[in-house]
Amino acid sequence: MAISVLKYDCVIYFNAILRCNMLVNIKHGKITLMTKLARILTNDLFYLPAPVRIHYEKGDFVRLKRTSIKRNKAKQMVGLASLTGLFSADMAIDLGTANTLVYVKGRGVILSEPSVVAYHVKDGTKKVLAVGEDAKLMLGRTPGSIEAIRPMREGVIADFDVAEEMIKHFIRKVHKRSTFYKPKIIVCVPHGATPVEKRAIRQSVLSAGARKAGLIAEPIAAAIGAGMPITDPTGNMVVDIGGGTTEVAVLSLGDIVYARSVRVGGDRMDEAIISYLRRQQNLLVGEATAERIKTSIGTARMPDDGRGASMMVRGRDLLNGVPKETEITQAQVAEALAEPVQQICEAVMTALEVTPPDLAADIVDRGVMLTGGGALLSDLDLALREQTGLAVSIAEESLNCVAMGTGKALEYEKQLRHAIDYDS
Ligand SMILES: Nc1ncnc2c1ncn2[C@@H]1O[C@H](COP(=O)(O)OP(=O)(O)OP(=O)(O)O)[C@@H](O)[C@H]1O
Ligand SMILES: [Mg+2]
Repeated sequence: MAISVLKYDCVIYFNAILRCNMLVNIKHGKITLMTKLARILTNDLFYLPAPVRIHYEKGDFVRLKRTSIKRNKAKQMVGLASLTGLFSADMAIDLGTANTLVYVKGRGVILSEPSVVAYHVKDGTKKVLAVGEDAKLMLGRTPGSIEAIRPMREGVIADFDVAEEMIKHFIRKVHKRSTFYKPKIIVCVPHGATPVEKRAIRQSVLSAGARKAGLIAEPIAAAIGAGMPITDPTGNMVVDIGGGTTEVAVLSLGDIVYARSVRVGGDRMDEAIISYLRRQQNLLVGEATAERIKTSIGTARMPDDGRGASMMVRGRDLLNGVPKETEITQAQVAEALAEPVQQICEAVMTALEVTPPDLAADIVDRGVMLTGGGALLSDLDLALREQTGLAVSIAEESLNCVAMGTGKALEYEKQLRHAIDYDS
């Protein structure tokens, strides 16, 4: 496969269908082609401080062709790209249980906010007070007149009106310029979503102002976003661990061979920490505190010294009802998280058991790719490696993978047409 690199001054234009795992790593004005093979479809424009060096490693499948172009041609290309970026406001949305991300065509992921809406309720009427980050700060801390709601549960819409309000807000936020133009929007949905749940998502997006709404299965989006060569005739396993669900899928030739969605994810881990503290320490903590414990010292394996790091936690003492502070160790969090971690491992084992043998052999070669925020739980990759005996890697930018993959599907709709559903 060839990559044409058209270079002029500080503008590099990649006009390519690449076969490299990560497209490029851009740091300090230097482009490094990553070495592993995978198909990535790209057509991006990068602005870099000159000088620019381009390397690739021996043994790469990547063949580099450098072409110099004339100054005004380069300017034309930049001009054209920015112009199309201006008018083409089609979007890809990862409507997640915990976070919603919006990818705008030609611009990448430009919004990432918690999926939370806060309402002011007065005389039976509701008025939106805050959406996203600001609304999340209110969760668990609202007076009677304010309601903070998470409209998504387990990957699908639990509260239709609130979800629509949230999508509208995010679309308005990224789509300021051309209010006359209705965008086409692709949204990812969990593989396990029912036809009714899919229709609800599509309807919400259309009501929020889209002219056309396409759906793509979350595992396909996750694998594209992680840079896996899903269109090749080889088996690829992706495990997307989100807030509400874990999706395990085996993909080949651009489609799903096997997928399973289990309703275990980051939320279930938070609940496990809450119930552990209630049982073991008579301490009642809220969801936000449990999430902070998980992201700070959470781990999927017992620490080697049997205790690990620790942190102070505040909550309400269940015995006498007063606020109290207590210490929690990593070992205790590992114990609390044992069950959800085991459920995730079991979902992966089940997928491996039913994968056709040739594809299973590919997975032995290539390993398993983890995406989603849950993939960031410390040592989860090691726990999975121990149980499955397979190499396990965590995708770069794992929280953004699904949004980036949905965005790539939007950019390369022709090639990935079969994966996008506009009708159901
Ligand atoms: N460092 C971390 N360690 C453990 N968990 C983390 C970490 N960072 C984020 N998370 C968790 O990841 C989850 C959010 O991940 P993500 O944004 O992928 O979910 P989502 O896409 O909104 O959910 P879903 O795909 O299930 O609809 C949250 O539960 C969050 O607590
Ligand atoms: Mg997700």
